[in-house]
Amino acid sequence: MSEKLVTEVEWKGTSAATIKKITNAGILTIDQLLTFTPKELAEKIEVTSPTVDKVILQALKEYGLDFKKGTTVAEEQAKRIRLSTGSKEFDRLLKGGVEGEALTEFIAEYHGGKTQLCMTMGVLAVNLPPNEAGQNPHVVYIDCENTFKANRVMEIARERGFNPEETLNRFLVATAYNSLHQAELIKHIDKILSTDYFILVIVDGVLSHLRGEYIGRETLAPRQGSLGAMLGRLLSIASSNKIPVILTNQVQGNVTGFGSPFNPAGGHVMAHACTHRVLIRTKSKNSREVQVIDSPDISDEERVRIAITAAGIVDEGDADE
Ligand code: GTP
Ligand code: MG
Repeated sequence: MSEKLVTEVEWKGTSAATIKKITNAGILTIDQLLTFTPKELAEKIEVTSPTVDKVILQALKEYGLDFKKGTTVAEEQAKRIRLSTGSKEFDRLLKGGVEGEALTEFIAEYHGGKTQLCMTMGVLAVNLPPNEAGQNPHVVYIDCENTFKANRVMEIARERGFNPEETLNRFLVATAYNSLHQAELIKHIDKILSTDYFILVIVDGVLSHLRGEYIGRETLAPRQGSLGAMLGRLLSIASSNKIPVILTNQVQGNVTGFGSPFNPAGGHVMAHACTHRVLIRTKSKNSREVQVIDSPDISDEERVRIAITAAGIVDEGDADE
């Protein structure tokens, strides 16, 4: 990893104007720079491909192409931040909470509690003590379904003994009105991430617009291309900022009667991009069952129960409603 600043590098054969365009775009470190594909970077800073190729090749040299020992990787992975879901059992299932430097997808049907989980996680993340989360942590909340409710965030904060206004002030919320808007908002995260301190990025309803806008088999390729680009950026944001990115997704109806009745939208692109995929099943009005269905280090065998209460997501045993 190279947290070296772009401005600290002695660039060879790249003009100061190009470097200025890079930093003006909110790309401040070599790590951040390398999260862009050449095509993405060329578009973002509006320069030609040969110019970008030169920049990226030199950035790769600055980054270094060393391999690490497994023990070093283990140390780095153990240091990753873990953010609470609100339920201790759910956190335990996720080996300590939602992992930093990873994409975690929460899949549920209509009214499954996805938005409640997003709001609860945001409230808890911004209220972490400074020794765990640094000073003044913020969350970025991209709301693709227009269901973010400021009053509900304040209620969850109040119920948990936090200051509701301070909590809300640390949410940076944008409603995405269509998939292009959503993609642009995701690209814009770099800009805000360089100005404020962030601990979590939330995209509630990552597929809603794409599903509505691209209908029919012939549109599958552009839709999946657009989704892949968004997920690629989100994973880069998670890695370079060392924070979790959480996404929510609806379950598609499986009317064939064969195979799993739980068929998350987004196909292979979604399946491959997400580090951990978590399924939430509705059990009764406020009770939900949680299962990790795809993860490189969590078994799909265990299921835990959570509840939706005035305080957001909690252990089922703690729900008094
Ligand atoms: P869609 O976005 O429609 O797919 O649903 P979702 O998965 O985002 O579900 P959401 O998070 O909106 O959860 C809906 C559930 O949360 C419903 O069962 C509500 O009863 C419950 N819920 C919503 N607000 C409150 C609240 O203020 N208090 C309590 N106790 N439950 C709530
Ligand atoms: Mg929702």
